[in-house]
Amino acid sequence: MQRLHTIAAWRDYAQRQRDAGHSVGLVPTMGALHAGHASLFDEAKARGDVVLATIFVNPRQFGDIADLRAYPHTPEVDLRLAQEHGVDCLVEPALEEMWPEYPRPTATTVSVRGISEVLEGAGRPGHFDGVASVVAKLFAVTGPCRAYFGDKDFQQIAVVRQMVADLALPVEVVGCPIVRDYDGLALSSRNLLLTETARHQALSLSRALHQVGETRRYASAMRRAMRAVMEDAGVRVAYADVVDPVTFMPTRDDEGGARRALVAGVVGGVRLIDNGPVVVEPRRD
Ligand code: PAF
Repeated sequence: MQRLHTIAAWRDYAQRQRDAGHSVGLVPTMGALHAGHASLFDEAKARGDVVLATIFVNPRQFGDIADLRAYPHTPEVDLRLAQEHGVDCLVEPALEEMWPEYPRPTATTVSVRGISEVLEGAGRPGHFDGVASVVAKLFAVTGPCRAYFGDKDFQQIAVVRQMVADLALPVEVVGCPIVRDYDGLALSSRNLLLTETARHQALSLSRALHQVGETRRYASAMRRAMRAVMEDAGVRVAYADVVDPVTFMPTRDDEGGARRALVAGVVGGVRLIDNGPVVVEPRRD
């Protein structure tokens, strides 16, 4: 596995792969890698890509400095997992390489209106501008590629897809299924920050989604049911919503059909998200 640190070397590597006739599979990460990331490496490999993974903890997507400082770092695990899952090139750019002007703002920000302003975007102002800006830069340096993201960050994928469409970027975005722990907890780098009690409470997110995924109800009944499960477990609920999976418009009670349920909550000081498919029934009374 090659390890690179500069934009110039990374851009050159990706171009050489394409020149040699290979497709490039980009897996953007912030490190603290786990089996969810490994599934993205595996998917890229399975599609025959040369796998280029990036590890960069992007400060521009963290609203508050304490959250950024608390973000887990597991460099040895990251290296081992990337090697074991066939990553061909691991890029770990320094902050000065990605954002030389930091902490001053860059003159250019990529902002995807609409989808970025609801749910995660409403609770974490500026978060998706930070994500879109860094992902745009990762795409610009890598060049034409397939880019792999986990469905756990369902809204993030929608933001990235919209950006790719609007800017006609030469990138195919591939969303991959959520990887869950044995008890249903969606894998997340932030799980490393959970105490045993908080981890137990955190299970209510997947439990809430599972419950509404198994039943047919109208949208607000689903919202109430998910919120109740999470609150009963002691989670501070940020949102429990049912939306259109493409536009992220909230589902009305008179609508029926396939939708996405998304939840977020704070458990023991750690903010967690999860989501899953649901089928809503229109309200009849
Ligand atoms: O999902 C993540 O880990 C990050 O938001 C990403 C896509 C690597 C951008 O920093």
